[in-house]
Order: sequence, then C-alpha cells, then structure tokens
Amino acid sequence: MIIGVAREIKPGERRVALTPDTAGGLIQKGFTVHIESGAGVNSFYDDTAYKAAGTVIFQSKTDILSNADILVKVNAPSDEEIELMKEGAVLISFMFASSNPDLVKQCARKKISAFSLDSIPRISRAQSMDALSSQSNLAGYKAVMLAGNALGKVFPLMMTAAGTVKPAKVVIMGAGVAGLQAVATAKRLGAIVEVSDIRPETKEQVESLGGKFIEVKGDDSVRTEGGYVKEVSAEFLKKQKEVVARHVAEADVVITTALLPGKKAPLLITEEMVKAMRFGSVILDMAVEQGGNCAISEAGKTVVKHGVTIIGEMNLPSLLPVNASELFAKNISTFLLHLADSNGFKWDMNDEITKGSLIVHRGVIEG
Ligand code: NAI
Repeated sequence: MIIGVAREIKPGERRVALTPDTAGGLIQKGFTVHIESGAGVNSFYDDTAYKAAGTVIFQSKTDILSNADILVKVNAPSDEEIELMKEGAVLISFMFASSNPDLVKQCARKKISAFSLDSIPRISRAQSMDALSSQSNLAGYKAVMLAGNALGKVFPLMMTAAGTVKPAKVVIMGAGVAGLQAVATAKRLGAIVEVSDIRPETKEQVESLGGKFIEVKGDDSVRTEGGYVKEVSAEFLKKQKEVVARHVAEADVVITTALLPGKKAPLLITEEMVKAMRFGSVILDMAVEQGGNCAISEAGKTVVKHGVTIIGEMNLPSLLPVNASELFAKNISTFLLHLADSNGFKWDMNDEITKGSLIVHRGVIEG
C-alpha cells in the first residue's frame, strides 16, 4: 500500500499532511510512503528529514498522484489533481462535502473512495483523529496573537512609575474549541475576557478558564447534536444581540468563532455595532470564510472601517505550520490505522467512524 503526500496547492497553505515522524511510524507498520519534493518545506520539514524517516521522494506531483493507493492531503484535491489520481485510490483530507458537491462528484467519477476528516463523528474514541479540533485549537491561539498585534494597547494591567495601564477587554463570541483556546490565551496574557455562546453548558467551561460568561436568560430553544448547534430561535438571537452589543461597545478586541455546520455563519456583529465600538479597537472574524460573524469583515483581508481594524484571516492554523502539521499528521495517521493496515482497508460499515466519514465508496456517493 503506497501512501502519497503531495505539496498542498491552495494559495497561502503552509501545512503538510504527514511529518517525517508520522511517515516513519506508518512505514514501520508496513506502508510505503511517497513524498513530493518540498512538500514539507513550508512547515520547516525538509526532504532530508523525510528521506531519513524512510520515505521515497519524487520530484513530480504526477508521480505521487498516479502511484498512490492512498492520497493524504490537508485540503481537498483540485479537479486536476483528481484527474491524475489512480482509479480506485483512497483519498483522505478535509472535504466539507456538503458545501462541495462537485468535488464529491469528481471523486465518484474517478471511482475514488473518499474519507472526509471534517465528517468524523464527535465521539470520545475519535478524538485523536479529529483534525477539525486540533486545527481549531491552534487557530484560537493565533487569533489572539494577531488581534493583540493589531491593537495599540497591551493586554495586562501594568503598574509603572509613569502610571497604571488598564488591562485590555477581550470579548469572545462562541466558546467551542477555538473560542475556549482564545479565552485561555487572552487570560494568560492578562486581559479581561468576556464570552458569549448559545450553548448553556459553555458557561462552566468559560468560567473554569477565568472568563466571564455573558448570560442571555429565558430560552430553551437551543438544540444541539453531536456537539454542534442545530437550532435556535430568532427571538433568542435577537435578545442575545441586544445583551452582547453593550459588551462589544466597550471591548478593545472582539474575536468571533461562531459556526453553524453546513450553514452560513450567524451574523453577530452588525455594522451599527462596529460604529459603536471604540476608535482603535480590533475585531478578528474567524468565521469569515463561512460568510462571517461580522457584517463588514472581508475574507483574506485586514481592513479599517469606522476606526476599527477588522481582521479576516482565512487560514489561521496555516500560520502555525509546525504545530498544525504535527497535529494534523498525527490525526491522519491515527485515522488511517483505524481504517486500514498494510494489507488493505477494512471497510467496516458497522463502525461509526467509517460510516460517518466515508463520503464516496468505490465511486458510489454515500447517503
Ligand atoms: P463550532 O465550530 O461548530 O462552533 C463554535 C461555537 O460557536 C460553538 O461553541 C457554538 O455553540 C457557538 N455558536 C453558534 N452560534 C452562536 C451564536 N449565535 N452566538 C454565540 N455562539 C454561537 O463548534 P466546535 O468548536 O467545533 O465544537 C463545539 C463543541 O463540540 C465543543 O465545545 C465540544 O463540546 C464538542 N466537541 C466534541 C468532540 C468530541 O467529543 N470528539 C470534538 C470536538 C468538539
């Protein structure tokens, strides 16, 4: 079984799907690993390290794609890459299949079996395979770093001979994996942190990290499934907006992380709310690629509107490529070893992890 690792081609992408360490681990389990020359260089893993781990380096992407029995990638392959893949090969990558029907069809046409990392069910035994979580965690950290860098103020309280500097106030919207890491990071830097989420259970998690939970009382319309928010009433969202607006107006930094899987991100910060913010404050919209939590953020850009710096960085994990690749590679190799050994795939359709993540099976789109 040949595992192929090609250089990521998405603009700005610095991660690589396997590190030398994880590739070496798979080789020990009996797999052969082919790497495109330079695939790890933007994550600071050079060809020498991959060679030392026992992989075979190829200069051409075509060689990697056309020989791989299993292609592992961070981002889903392009049409051209799928075209070059061996018929009947297995693909493992992020796919976001519900928003990418054409990608699914292309895989089916090429009789590929495709597993999507973002569809791995959120159950305890799949936690070590959960690349969405490992990457969101790093993104939450980096969001605080970028916002802090754009802010003309320090985060902690400082008592100096020249006077006392007040701590910055950071408001975080959405206390999932990324949001909770952002809370922990901003707290460690000494900021006052306030948090809003619509899942009531997040209150305790926020408080355990030293954050203050912004409470919106009197509603039981929030429905969750597998850790994700599935439903919430418009009335609750209106009430939430009114309460949160007051906190946002007083914030130095607002970091938004709220997502609704398969849907456009909820709009949490209107242009009116931005206008009411302090001159020089910063918004970082982590949901910008899914339509944005802020009405006037721009995907891939940092803009200044109404005196507020609004950061719309789209690929935060890629800005920490060493850790992001390390954790991603560990997720993908654990997942692969769950699905297969060096003799082939198990195709255990009674397994919740296989069933949840298999999007196309030998050319047939799974329902
Ligand atoms: P996510 O990326 O889908 O959403 C981020 C956050 O935004 C969530 O906390 C959500 O409640 C919040 N949100 C949605 N609409 C909002 C609104 N209008 N206002 C404020 N906040 C809003 O979620 P994420 O970070 O991927 O995970 C959510 C939860 O799933 C985790 O906290 C955890 O409990 C669970 N989980 C379980 C795993 C496992 O057991 N294997 C793995 C990962 C997550």
